[in-house]
Amino acid sequence: MCGIVGYIGARNSQDVLLDGLKKLEYRGYDSAGVAVFTSNGLEVKKAKGRLAVLESQLASSPLIGTAGIGHTRWATHGKPSDVNSHPHTDNGMRFSVVHNGIIENYLTLKEELSAKGHRFVSETDTEVLSHLLADLYDGSLVRTVQKAVKKLKGAFALAVMYVHEPDQLVAVRQASPLIIGVGQGENFIGSDIPAVLNYTRDIYILNDGEMAVLTRNGVELMDLDGNNISRELFVVDWDLSTAEKGGFDHFMLKEIHEQPKAYRDTMGGRIDVQANKIILDELNLKQEDIRALEKIHIVACGTAYHAGLVGRSVIESLTRIPVESDVASEYRYRSPIINERTLVIVVSQSGETADTLAALREAKRYGAKVLAITNVVGSSVAREADEVLFTWAGPEIAVASTKAYSSQLIAFYLLGLHLAAQRDSVKAGDLAELIHALQKLPEQVEELLQQAPAIKSLAEAFAARSSVFFIGRGLDYAAAMEGSLKLKEISYIHSEAYAAGELKHGTLALIEQGVPVIALATQEELLEKMISNIKEVKARDAFVLGIVMEGGADLADCADQVLKIPRTMPLLAPALSAIPLQLLAYYASLARGNDVDKPRNLAKSVTVE
Ligand code: M6R
Repeated sequence: MCGIVGYIGARNSQDVLLDGLKKLEYRGYDSAGVAVFTSNGLEVKKAKGRLAVLESQLASSPLIGTAGIGHTRWATHGKPSDVNSHPHTDNGMRFSVVHNGIIENYLTLKEELSAKGHRFVSETDTEVLSHLLADLYDGSLVRTVQKAVKKLKGAFALAVMYVHEPDQLVAVRQASPLIIGVGQGENFIGSDIPAVLNYTRDIYILNDGEMAVLTRNGVELMDLDGNNISRELFVVDWDLSTAEKGGFDHFMLKEIHEQPKAYRDTMGGRIDVQANKIILDELNLKQEDIRALEKIHIVACGTAYHAGLVGRSVIESLTRIPVESDVASEYRYRSPIINERTLVIVVSQSGETADTLAALREAKRYGAKVLAITNVVGSSVAREADEVLFTWAGPEIAVASTKAYSSQLIAFYLLGLHLAAQRDSVKAGDLAELIHALQKLPEQVEELLQQAPAIKSLAEAFAARSSVFFIGRGLDYAAAMEGSLKLKEISYIHSEAYAAGELKHGTLALIEQGVPVIALATQEELLEKMISNIKEVKARDAFVLGIVMEGGADLADCADQVLKIPRTMPLLAPALSAIPLQLLAYYASLARGNDVDKPRNLAKSVTVE
């Protein structure tokens, strides 16, 4: 996720900017850059790679000045490269902009500005803004920014400078975080508090639709119409390492709480609300290709494989195309039956998992079209696949995948709905209902996150157990597999997930008094059968935690405790049931005193076979 810094004061700004960017490194990035007001006007330096690359360039030819903006880029539009790095400028080098977020209507703006003679050099959405500012400038930077921002759709946090108004910086927040640090004779902009914590603890936190104008001697807050806003300063009393985690104790907990945003970002610009349509402009697959598909294979590892299991049911039920899912390390060696009418979907958060990458190459070798669902622009999987559908979850730092997994589910819903629309395999009314329910998911996740204290108490009770079972049917079985993996990988409690109907074929022998069984019962068509399975374990004195949908299954006589997820369509339930299961794993791990973010024996990116 991109990081923004800004400084205006008396110090050498490049040092303050680099220092701030270093504090934002934890957000993940692939390139960095700064723009500084120097005696030559507005000068920019930017470079692909680690901050050290930019730092060494600045060491050999420094930008001398006391005001500037800086950025670490986590590529979204356009691969990581020097030219795609921020800051971006207009053709006259008058405006410089850094941006975090996605400008959804950038292509339309780019066309309009190109027609007026603006020349674009990068593939980014951000560059349109520097040209737009140049196009709209009316003698006041603040007014021009207000006008420009009103033309943007999407999520953005911005810092802007203009060569002829060198005594001010302008910052805007619209759905991407931004804070202002207030000092003595100096002021700061940051995507996050750590960026400024070495200099000040006095912070204004901007809300959506607000902007700040920073000079050396003050900060003015206003709305996008220029109305002044008065706000109390927030005084930070955390230390730096806590601040990097946004006030959360662990990255995993932070990432669990980032899921509403990850859902919104992954859906952003891909749903035409008026037309009830999914727009996946990034895919080149034409309608005739989609109609010609005979089968789909979904291939991935670990948590991404579990997302693929959900994806399989979603795509099969919406399109009636036969779908198989495979663990990549098996798929690559099983000589899969593939032809040019097979679509192989590889799923990988990192885009670097060795087995998934090998499976992708194998599928291409057999002539299949490969579509990647990944979170990392410029990753090997993204580069080698024929088609890419990015999840916009932002960098995931905890080894245990949470927001990347749930964003993969969102990607599968979008893809399934798109394929179904192209094949006319679902009635328009049903598609509209699903699209409507999909859009409600982010706020339903917010609601679910409120249950954290109750889940914490449950997890503390589970933490003392040596074994836990997860059961479910249909999509609940796929969700149970992910819940079980999450629990075992960070709590080290032995845990297994079973198709509920399968228990009595062997595993029921392990159920005895007090053994925790987490029973997912959100799939209403399968409820009767599921309740019978819950009764089977209850009859053996298991401790049953039921997970049901509001207004759904009544487990009063067979569960010891019940967690409810907000009501949604059964197909979408895994995107909600994931949340309590992640929290359960997190708090169980915490209660056992484990290193939650770095579980033993595991790595974030598995680049070996
Ligand atoms: O980066 P990828 O999505 O390809 O990674 C796949 C698995 O290694 C990963 O999901 C792993 O299972 C996580 N530790 C799960 O939390």
